[in-house]
Amino acid sequence: MKYLICTVLIFLSLSIQAGELSKTYSEHVDQQGNITFPSDFLMDGFVHLGSNTVANPESGEIFNINSSYTQKSALMWYQKTGKWPDGTLIVKILKLVTAKKSLISGQVQHQTSQDIAFIMVKDTQNRFQHTSNKAIWGDGWGWAQFTDAKQPTVNTNQNKNYCQGCHLPRKETDWLYTDIYPQMQR
Ligand code: HEC
Repeated sequence: MKYLICTVLIFLSLSIQAGELSKTYSEHVDQQGNITFPSDFLMDGFVHLGSNTVANPESGEIFNINSSYTQKSALMWYQKTGKWPDGTLIVKILKLVTAKKSLISGQVQHQTSQDIAFIMVKDTQNRFQHTSNKAIWGDGWGWAQFTDAKQPTVNTNQNKNYCQGCHLPRKETDWLYTDIYPQMQR
């Protein structure tokens, strides 16, 4: 009986997982490999992986605050297996910030309304090599950028090489800076 319950629970959790992740290719990526921004991601089961800031190397003034998110089931699968499952979306939201302002808490730089989003979409099946979007797909991911916060559905990235130039130092960890996210430590 105990084993039966366990099996049913594992089956249920795998189906929920598969459901959440299969939405990626039914809702956020079309047959031609066009990636659209999952604008409701914060309401849709995503979890916060972590945040970081990027500063001017000389003045120390912060340029932007970055926060990254993924589906809860993708993170659970990764923590179990060390692999990101097909349909994983890693969403990084880059928030531009103001110059320093003195507030009672200290020197504050707060966000403006101009977000930029970077998205990586896990594709374990090499789906789009025959399409006109093949330049943004490859090495296990689709690579997209949404620059204009007011038009967040339009991907402005045309080539994964632009992204991979900077992600190359983390090729061995599936192109992700896993070392800077406590949530990604296994
Ligand atoms: C100028 C170098 C640079 C470029 C260009 C770049 N990235 Fe990144 N990206 C980074 C660095 C460094 C991090 C981790 C630290 C940070 O957020 O600044 C990162 C983080 C990310 C993250 C969060 C997960 C992680 O690995 O930390 C995603 C998702 C991401 N980038 C996607 C993209 C996509 C998609 C593109 C192209 C459209 C792209 N990046 C272009 C340097 C870059």
